[in-house]
Amino acid sequence: MIVQIKKGGAVMKILIISGSPRKGETHKAAQFVDEKLKKIGGFEVDWLILKDLNIKPCIGCFACLNKGENKCPMKDDRDIIVDKMKQADGLIIAVPNYSLQVPALTKNLLDRLAYIFHRPSMQGKIFMGLVTQGVYGGGNILKYLNEAMRFWGFSISKGVSVTVVPGFRLPQVQKKIEAALEKAAGRFAKALKEKKVTVPSLKEVAIFRLARTGMKNMDKTSVDRQYYESKGWFTSKYYYDVRLGPFKSLVGWLMDRFAQHMADKSKRELEAYQHKNVTESKVL
Ligand SMILES: Cc1cc2nc3c(=O)[nH]c(=O)nc-3n(C[C@H](O)[C@H](O)[C@H](O)COP(=O)(O)O)c2cc1C
Repeated sequence: MIVQIKKGGAVMKILIISGSPRKGETHKAAQFVDEKLKKIGGFEVDWLILKDLNIKPCIGCFACLNKGENKCPMKDDRDIIVDKMKQADGLIIAVPNYSLQVPALTKNLLDRLAYIFHRPSMQGKIFMGLVTQGVYGGGNILKYLNEAMRFWGFSISKGVSVTVVPGFRLPQVQKKIEAALEKAAGRFAKALKEKKVTVPSLKEVAIFRLARTGMKNMDKTSVDRQYYESKGWFTSKYYYDVRLGPFKSLVGWLMDRFAQHMADKSKRELEAYQHKNVTESKVL
């Protein structure tokens, strides 16, 4: 019997984004994880195959960052992905290691969603990375994905990188790959069921405080500032509810003070520059 895990009366939703340009080893590995999650029970797994979606290249116009995500000039499937992420409790991004990084297809998606780094919206959700590789470098890709997803607001379940040489595989090698994937699926399921929230590192607390105080000093029309204000982040400890120890709280306070000092300093410097220019133009 499959035991359904209820969360507010609903089965938990997982989204798998398959970020390879082909339905190959990464897709197979992700399918294996999907099967394991279904076997554990209580999850509804949805898929997005990135190569089958229309995601145009980011042209670096800054519109999403500075004016708002709805100002992106690219009209394509971007929001289908974002909506599915928002509906999900957990996200898996499955990628192959291409030249020590995620493939261009996936990197482009992250660039197109760069506004979420500025205005994180994935708090309360759990992320896991899945990497397949030929030889070396998967660990760094997992670190990269984890760091990016932390900026988006996700809590992290330790991901998995498997070495899958194409072609014939000895049964013991295949068994080892499957064991690693099964373990990762188990960790992810547990993190979801226990709603495990990642406690921010000292660096993350410091970055949040520097960013929020910087934004507090921005023009009132700034979309980032308005977003932070609407979330109550100018007075919160972090951008989601979490207990910080005394040391992190102290460092956070110091970062707020430092960022305010820097903002005041640049304001004074700008005023002095403007005053000097006005005086000089009067003399001329
Ligand atoms: C363009 C390209 C670059 C690759 N670069 C690396 C690499 O830097 N390190 C590595 O270990 N494997 C590398 N590989 C091997 C793939 O990561 C590996 O075969 C992966 O499982 C392929 O997944 P896929 O079938 O989803 O494409 C590369 C493969 C391709 C096609």
